[in-house]
Amino acid sequence: MPASAPEQRYLLDNARAEAGERFVALAELFDGVTRGHFDRLGVGPGWRCWEAGAGGRGIPEALAAAVGPTGYVLATDINPAWLDPHGTYEVRRHDVVADPPPEPGTFDLVHARLVLIHVPDRARALATMVAALRPGGRLLVEDADTELQPLVCLDETGPAQQRANRLRSAFRELMTHRGADLRYGRTLPRTLRAAGLIDVAAAGSFPVGGTVCDRLEIASIRQVRAELVAARLTDDAEIDAHLAAVAAGELDLTLAPLISAWGRRPDR
Ligand SMILES: C[S@@+](CC[C@H](N)C(=O)[O-])C[C@H]1O[C@@H](n2cnc3c(N)ncnc32)[C@H](O)[C@@H]1O
Repeated sequence: MPASAPEQRYLLDNARAEAGERFVALAELFDGVTRGHFDRLGVGPGWRCWEAGAGGRGIPEALAAAVGPTGYVLATDINPAWLDPHGTYEVRRHDVVADPPPEPGTFDLVHARLVLIHVPDRARALATMVAALRPGGRLLVEDADTELQPLVCLDETGPAQQRANRLRSAFRELMTHRGADLRYGRTLPRTLRAAGLIDVAAAGSFPVGGTVCDRLEIASIRQVRAELVAARLTDDAEIDAHLAAVAAGELDLTLAPLISAWGRRPDR
């Protein structure tokens, strides 16, 4: 772990088994959205791509398939435990804040999804990602804006739904305490322009209902359960009741909108 204060540590640490379940769910929910942006940006044979804060295998594998044998995909993470060291992409341990850009000025695409929102020094991380782009290269950053839509349960019809939203609010409090910026998504177009990128645009999306949202919620709450209780934001009885209600599949859970923003480094 870097020499930052304990409150700055990444809340949803990859060392936990639940992280793997979360990456599978995130891939099912958002890889289609992300791949759509890759297609529109023209990612194809021969491209050099850096996937920062990769988490699981879905996006590195999708990029490797798109760039083919003449391309190159580098997947990095502060903890790359869930990546495949023998896959069709290169894996490196890399801290997007503390470490210099890998192979500066060489990438056609740099992408990070749901990473910068968690990183307290996100301006420095973004500068590192921009510095990795070749002139004309593309940056795609995707982050949640949980203030834009803070509920986990849109249809708050009874006590189970109210409890779900109360626990989501507690979860958001923990994230803020760890340095997350819950309004970061909305800033992305302005932030990318300020970083010197051109042709900046953005879009947003979020799923509503379905078993994947339920699985993500169960894995996330299990992962942060001890910290929620230690912070006196809830208790074990409330968490158990919530997990049972989610497992019953009647809450139609949702997520904060994912804002995807992209831009291009000027040719010179
Ligand atoms: C919420 S997960 C998202 C994973 C993946 N990008 C996705 O969308 O499915 C955040 C990821 O960022 C990584 N991460 C957190 N802080 C980081 C840092 N300073 N440098 C690199 N990766 C970091 C975590 O280890 C984790 O894998």
